[in-house]
Amino acid sequence: MALKTGRGASAPPFLVMDVIAAANARQAALPPGAPGVIRMEVGQPATGAPAGARAAAVAALQGGDPLGYTEAFGRASLRARIAAHYRDWYGLDVAPARIAVTVGASGAFPLAFLAAFDPGDRVAMAAPFYPPYVNILTALGMQPVILEAGPETRFQPSIAALERLDPLPDGLIIASPCNPAGTMLHPEELAAIAGWCHAHGVRLISDEIYHGLNYDAPLSSAAAFPGAVVVNSFSKYFSMTGWRIGWLVLPEDLIRPVECLAQNLFISAPHIAQVAAEAAFDCHAELQANIARYRRSRDHLLATLPAAGFDRLSPAEGAFYLYADISARSNDSVAFCARMLAEAGVAATPGVDFDRARGAHFLRFSYCGAEADMQEAARRLANWR
Ligand SMILES: Cc1ncc(COP(=O)(O)O)c(C=O)c1O
Repeated sequence: MALKTGRGASAPPFLVMDVIAAANARQAALPPGAPGVIRMEVGQPATGAPAGARAAAVAALQGGDPLGYTEAFGRASLRARIAAHYRDWYGLDVAPARIAVTVGASGAFPLAFLAAFDPGDRVAMAAPFYPPYVNILTALGMQPVILEAGPETRFQPSIAALERLDPLPDGLIIASPCNPAGTMLHPEELAAIAGWCHAHGVRLISDEIYHGLNYDAPLSSAAAFPGAVVVNSFSKYFSMTGWRIGWLVLPEDLIRPVECLAQNLFISAPHIAQVAAEAAFDCHAELQANIARYRRSRDHLLATLPAAGFDRLSPAEGAFYLYADISARSNDSVAFCARMLAEAGVAATPGVDFDRARGAHFLRFSYCGAEADMQEAARRLANWR
């Protein structure tokens, strides 16, 4: 007799992982000495964890601490350090009790969604969006509500778009700087959206994983606003993807519910990675050098890609992404990216991952790779049509 499978069994793949596999296969098939594939599909810093974080992990391994489970919300010293970070960066007084250390931002999403929403609840977000938002909500029986956004709102949600929803949603996910467009909600826009959400009983979830990677516009955090849930991580600014440490800043009403969920779902985030993450707060000089490199790559690509036929680019305010409208060149971004990989040796991610309705007309370039590679990509694309 056929066995039942659950709702989660039909979660779609995160397609960028398939693009990564295709780029790996192409690289492996190249003859020795041939110029390699330039990786602009991955949203992962080419740099590893900062030296101070690695040294702290080595010291912890060599010390006598058994490195067992921590409390579900993480080591007290790390929670205090994250709270201090809100004072240092945003001038905000956040109590350490509101901080939950998680298994990356990815581990924070199910905790936040399960604590804040019920199956059937409607959770809005702008498209294009980071695909797991929709896939996790769907696996949990919640209903994603897509607000199509374009260059006129810098691919961000607007109050006007929210007010057109009938009924209003139960939640709203925002990301600033966002993946894939690299655009931001500026402080006055964030404050207006947070105020609107609070006034209308809409739970705001703010993904702030690209904070610190902003080039022109100032940053503000939704941690300042009542009822909002903030998701963040050591993966991007801190360059520690594989260490799998993130955090939540929780409003008072969700602290205990999320703690109970975290105890049951994860017990705790990895202990040694928490030690390394805490030390990363003392590595800003090294991290700022990474950001200076991203900024130079961004400036170079913005200056050169238009002449290479990518002349409709999202305003690259933050993160390390450019979202290109390729509708003048193709109406099939999957085929376009496959051809670009085969002929120019440059891997990028088709927009279909981020926007199921319009993504066939877009692709995402990630410029977090080595600076010389980004310059070579610009050269190759200028010579490719
Ligand atoms: C917008 C966004 N949120 C969350 C994540 C997940 O990050 P983590 O490595 O902390 O799980 C990513 C990863 O690329 C991302 O782009």
